Amino acid sequence: MSTMGRGHTHDPARQEELVAPAVADAFTLPASWYTRADVFQAERERVFSATWQLVAHSAALSKPGDYVTVNLVGEPLLLVRGDDGVLRAFYNVCRHRAGPVALGSGCRRAFQCGYHGWTYGLDGRLRQAREIQGTRHFDPEEYGLVPVGVADWGPLVFVNLDPAAPPLSTVMDPIDQEMSAAGFDLGRVAPRVRRCYEIQCNWKVYVDNYLEGYHIPIVHPGLFRELDYLRYQVQPRGHYSKQVSPTRSAGTGDAQSGYGRYEAGTEALYYWIWPNLMLNIYPDNVSTNVILPLGADRTLTIFEWFFLPEVGGEDVEATVAFSDQIQQEDIDICEHVARGLQSASYDRGRFVAARENGVHHFHRLMAAALPSHR
Ligand code: FES
Ligand SMILES: [Fe+2]
Repeated sequence: MSTMGRGHTHDPARQEELVAPAVADAFTLPASWYTRADVFQAERERVFSATWQLVAHSAALSKPGDYVTVNLVGEPLLLVRGDDGVLRAFYNVCRHRAGPVALGSGCRRAFQCGYHGWTYGLDGRLRQAREIQGTRHFDPEEYGLVPVGVADWGPLVFVNLDPAAPPLSTVMDPIDQEMSAAGFDLGRVAPRVRRCYEIQCNWKVYVDNYLEGYHIPIVHPGLFRELDYLRYQVQPRGHYSKQVSPTRSAGTGDAQSGYGRYEAGTEALYYWIWPNLMLNIYPDNVSTNVILPLGADRTLTIFEWFFLPEVGGEDVEATVAFSDQIQQEDIDICEHVARGLQSASYDRGRFVAARENGVHHFHRLMAAALPSHR
């Protein structure tokens, strides 16, 4: 009888908790969690619809009437600054026959549905429903746009589809405090560059990869030369984890390096915030990575860079070029891993306890969010 395959009678973790509490004892999530349609559907409901999601910039929503539309893992949403100065978000779904109330972005006095023309105010109230007079017991007050939670943090705007979610500040406050203590001022940076990458892998493959530095010597030789790998640390904390990575020395890397610009020993801070947001913090810029599943096997990663105003174009270009190289290396390995996870030979792996505590932390959070998907 073959010893290869998906039988795991030797696996004590499977009998008790899906992912054991100690990284040294634990097995990873099953490979099927990276491919199954029912797991993806459950993630949409219990992970992406239950957490604060970065969807826009405050700068695009500064004046009354400014609006943006977004698609959040399949949910069409509309964000708008009201005449009263209040930022609001709604499902971008007309109450008549589910048409789109707004498209793209811009500035408007009201919204008119693109299907039969019902109009809504900036506050989401239904203002006019054409030729509705003969319809009995129709109260326009009951047919306003359905609201969604919205909040901003520095230049970033988040939404949350869960009406019972705790406020965004409970998520971001600890990170805010650590960033301030380290001297980073989110209030001074402004968006400069945006890059989107579509990857043929489950979104968790990409997050797993972000959460460990273990692959850096093999996958990212250029980055490895820049970082003090031995001092690279991952610190899981509740709903986020922090990676601390001091640079090795100034100017020792290749000329394209985004890191050679900084003094030796400069600490880059990398935050991952459950479930799909990364903040990469350097002395003169912050970048965000938003990881959005397009399906169980496809992922969109949106990278945006926010720089201090005094940073010149050459430094911006060097930073983005270096990041782009690392991203291409990550995309390549993640797409290989996505194929490997579909192999009959692989189900679950072990963690390298010294290096993969961040991945273990993520898998624990996933297992807790989807308790009935063994
Ligand atoms: S779907 Fe919006 S007016 Fe009909
Ligand atoms: Fe990587």
